Amino acid sequence: MRVTIHDLGAWKAEGTRFAMLTAYDFPTAKLLDEAGIPVLLVGDSVGNNVLGYENTLPVTMEEMLHHTRAVARGVSNALVVGDMPFLSYQVSVEEGIRNAGRFLKEGGAGAVKIEGAQIELVHRLSDLGIPVMAHVGLTPQSVHGLGGYRVQGRGEEAARRVADEAAALEKAGSFAIVLEAMPADLAAELTRTLQIPTIGIGAGPGTDAQVLVLHDLLGLSERLPKFARAYADLRGAISEAAGTFAADVAAGRFPDDEHSYQ
Ligand code: KIV
Repeated sequence: MRVTIHDLGAWKAEGTRFAMLTAYDFPTAKLLDEAGIPVLLVGDSVGNNVLGYENTLPVTMEEMLHHTRAVARGVSNALVVGDMPFLSYQVSVEEGIRNAGRFLKEGGAGAVKIEGAQIELVHRLSDLGIPVMAHVGLTPQSVHGLGGYRVQGRGEEAARRVADEAAALEKAGSFAIVLEAMPADLAAELTRTLQIPTIGIGAGPGTDAQVLVLHDLLGLSERLPKFARAYADLRGAISEAAGTFAADVAAGRFPDDEHSYQ
């Protein structure tokens, strides 16, 4: 059964915690969907995890749609959320609406995610039936901005700013909100005060849901952030498989009779 934004709200109401993972391609999305992950985020982190960019800023709408379509094709149940890339929504509300709509019309997504306090845009999208997952705290697209790439909401004033943004985004109609890199007690407090589900990453255990970047979960990332846990060592597995294959070829052990046509 397709997961909907209403399911997420119901899970919060009944205290059922859930997981979200990033996904960027068809076979992985299919596996994650079959594993029962209810929400797959086609994150703009595709830029640094898959496309070799230094950060998420160079990622384009066309790249996001390309990956979102691949993920959507692999999914039968999960809610697919398309991440709006840098400058696809900040220039004007009109451009934001057009680009958000493309994720649903052309990408096969069921919702979009938008970083920061884009209150008017979230309001308009929600009115138009384009569900928005908000994202506050550390917002990677602001890597060069005043907030920078560090823990947010430390200290009373900074915490109040994050809380005000989150409340305004809920009021504007977001159906869920990502809380990234903030003190655990602030995230827990927001989870208590907001009606919509909170999805934490680097925000402690007190949120309604948790999200991890797939490459961190699988042990594919070169550097694991402090808040992430690798549940597998795919870097080691890939490197061992490739090395063993190369050694077998060099030694004439592959292909053998079993792997040849007679
Ligand atoms: O792009 C992404 O992977 C994200 C998650 C960190 C929430 O925005």
